[in-house]
Amino acid sequence: MRWSGMMSHVKALRQREGRVLTKARCTPYQGLTCRKEEVTMAKGFTISRVGHIGIQVTNVDRSLKWYRDILGLTLTGRWPMGENGEMAFMRFTDDHHNVVLFTHPTRITDENRNLGYNALQHIALEVADRDEWLKALADLRRKGVEIVQGPLIHGPEGGSGPGNAFGGSGSRSFYFLDPDGNRLEIYTDMMKVPEGEQFPRAEYAEVFKK
Ligand SMILES: [Fe+2]
Repeated sequence: MRWSGMMSHVKALRQREGRVLTKARCTPYQGLTCRKEEVTMAKGFTISRVGHIGIQVTNVDRSLKWYRDILGLTLTGRWPMGENGEMAFMRFTDDHHNVVLFTHPTRITDENRNLGYNALQHIALEVADRDEWLKALADLRRKGVEIVQGPLIHGPEGGSGPGNAFGGSGSRSFYFLDPDGNRLEIYTDMMKVPEGEQFPRAEYAEVFKK
């Protein structure tokens, strides 16, 4: 093939790939994605990432020790709050805080603390890669922490276990509880959803068809 012929062949290939990509981006798998009107709204500003979380706990002292000794967080500072309460700023980066513990404002006791006072479904902590994720799993098990769900892979590549919903993120994950029963997740490898694209794509659905 002459040079110019080869170039036009490459161009045609690229165009064809482009068409396939464009089509895939516009065709999320039927019934397994959000409705179009739910997906985006006008952006007045851009959020970078979830920066920190505040957790209401039964006993700040006990939770502070747990987040320090089990998850390796560092205490930035601890201050009184109101009549009987207190707050503790904790971090795992060089930010002032990533997790803040607050005395629960209602009369929570050890007996009633699992009766639905926690509004959060779970709090997810990301680690760098699979190696770090396995390290976390091994470390928590060594410390006697019960893994209440997982380890698992979210998405169809996770096999037939829990968390294998087709729309899953592909992340490796496991779940455990803090002293108040707050559900925590450690995960890695979450897939990206580039701007303008919805998930799941129709072509993935074809691959995983039985
Ligand atoms: Fe999660």
